[in-house]
Amino acid sequence: MSVLVTGGAGYIGSHTCIEMQNAGYDVIVIDNLDNSSKESLKRVEAITGKAVKFYENDVRDKDALRKIFTENKIEAVIHFAGLKAVGESVREPMMYYNNNLISTIALIEVMTEFGVKKLVFSSSATVYGVATEMPLKEGMPTGAINPYGRTKLFIEEMLRDLYVADSEWSIALLRYFNPIGAHKSGTIGEDPKGIPNNLMPYISQVAVGKLEKLHVFGNDYKTVDGTGVRDYIHVVDLAIGHVKAIEWALGNKGCEAINLGTGNGTSVLQLRDAFVKASDVQVPYIIDPRRPGDPDEVYANADKAAQLLGWRATRGIEEMCEDSWRWQKNNPNGYEK
Ligand code: NAD
Ligand code: WQD
Repeated sequence: MSVLVTGGAGYIGSHTCIEMQNAGYDVIVIDNLDNSSKESLKRVEAITGKAVKFYENDVRDKDALRKIFTENKIEAVIHFAGLKAVGESVREPMMYYNNNLISTIALIEVMTEFGVKKLVFSSSATVYGVATEMPLKEGMPTGAINPYGRTKLFIEEMLRDLYVADSEWSIALLRYFNPIGAHKSGTIGEDPKGIPNNLMPYISQVAVGKLEKLHVFGNDYKTVDGTGVRDYIHVVDLAIGHVKAIEWALGNKGCEAINLGTGNGTSVLQLRDAFVKASDVQVPYIIDPRRPGDPDEVYANADKAAQLLGWRATRGIEEMCEDSWRWQKNNPNGYEK
């Protein structure tokens, strides 16, 4: 059975291609390589021993989508393609609305033309906005606080409207918490362009000597040690969550928001310490002022995924650090030679 993976050359997409192929699906990828390289898919093929059919196109290009749906018997779609940097979305909001919304609209229109109504969408815990209560449950109020988050929220709302209008659809809105880690092979992983915005790639690049020290954004939060707490989830657990969501979509109808997190919070300094232990490399740091918009704590209630999909994350922080480090150490410049 063939599944189309948009944005499949990216960080989460490439890991998901592996788990989908391992589960027996044929994987077709569309990616414009805006934030990735074809090399990731070559490495996916080396890991699984199976071919990934690749289309280098933009998801906003409906003719390209039509060609893919004509040439392949696609049964379901996993939609990762999108821009994801919060700070950039504040500076370039129209680029984010254009890419994330128009690609999703084009995809839905072409899926409808071809009668394919099973979709797994990459949403984010960011749609909960500034929450007052933890852990976060799917029924809690939403309200994004930056353009990136609003693209995710608008798309969720749009997909809910789609299901109200046509109950033949199966749509999983997967709200990821903080994905880190890499495939055990150490051959695929996160490869951010320029200086990383996110904590784990920053720590790894300090460890490998590309950056001088970690800047800890604030140590006066109401948390265990004053630094921000997040729900880090191993990208392979996340990828397996997508296989489960596809299985759900193939056998059910509905439109469901589902948290993909572990339910556990880890602070910045706890993650840094776990990384030092896993890598046996020093990660010097300084305390800097808070980064605007960062909440004290964010972590999931992960029960709905267990009930609906039969999925729970199983990999702990130590394994996440070991796997992130193996990828970084073996590929100090990411996919670049
Ligand atoms: P990524 O940038 O590594 O992957 C996204 C992929 O989509 C890239 O390969 C990029 O080239 C491609 N792409 C972007 N716009 C496209 C377009 N218009 N047409 C075709 N391809 C396009 O990011 P990721 O971390 O793998 O994230 C995947 C998805 O998950 C994104 O939608 C992101 O918003 C969402 N998400 C990520 C995180 C995270 O922390 N990584 C958390 C929550 C949600
Ligand atoms: C984690 C913690 C920082 C970098 C972001 C997006 C969110 C989602 C995941 C897509 C915070 C601290 C960070 C650094 C630090 N993406 N930090 N020094 O902010 O939880 O979530 O990525 O949907 O939408 O907002 O992740 O990794 O940036 O930060 O001290 O150099 O690490 O303050 O407490 P965040 P992060």
